[in-house]
Amino acid sequence: MESLKNKIRKEGKVLSETVLKVDCFLNHQIDSKFMLDMGKEFARLYKDKEITKIVTIETSGIAPAVAAGIYLDVPVVFAKKSTSSTLNNDTYSREVKSFTKNKVYNILIAKEFLNPNDKVLVIDDFLAYGNALVGLNEIIEESGATVVGAGIVIEKGFQPGGKELRQSGLRVESLAIIESMNENGIIFG
Ligand code: G4P
Ligand code: NA
Ligand code: NA
Repeated sequence: MESLKNKIRKEGKVLSETVLKVDCFLNHQIDSKFMLDMGKEFARLYKDKEITKIVTIETSGIAPAVAAGIYLDVPVVFAKKSTSSTLNNDTYSREVKSFTKNKVYNILIAKEFLNPNDKVLVIDDFLAYGNALVGLNEIIEESGATVVGAGIVIEKGFQPGGKELRQSGLRVESLAIIESMNENGIIFG
């Protein structure tokens, strides 16, 4: 998505060769109209797939997920993060290891919000190592629902998540893929 690449070039801050800060439109302040543009693009990519539900993870996945949900006219379920792993009959949960943040957390979704008829589009803001997405996909499959594909705002192509998920057969659509970045600029795939 050319407008997203331009926005990243203009407003993004390269913190290191592996971390991009986009707090001005995605992770802290949210550019509302631009979020809708991205939602429209996710909806266009998946329009013929009979999506019934969007699933994401709090916090930063929620805005792009809702934007896509508006255009696909489907509800959005966000997995909640928890540091304790309280087993509960009413929820699906998975442990997720974050390499970027060097911590382990649990993601939870109430069973009542996923059912076997659901055809799910998974949305997230960043794709790095892919662990969050793997955890979500496992939860969705445990419910009997079908994961149709993923929609990612920014994929870091130099980290393995996207490649591994595509190799496993998942459709992954990223609106911008960063091949590399440093103080001189950002190279998109
Ligand atoms: P993974 O799921 O692909 O394995 O990613 P990882 O654990 O490495 O990412 C952990 C958190 O860091 C996620 O946010 C992810 O969105 C974010 N993240 C990863 N790389 C970058 C980056 O280059 N820039 C920014 N701004 N964020 C990055 P989170 O902990 O789930 O937080 P939230 O923002 O959703 O609250
Ligand atoms: Na994030
Ligand atoms: Na996220």
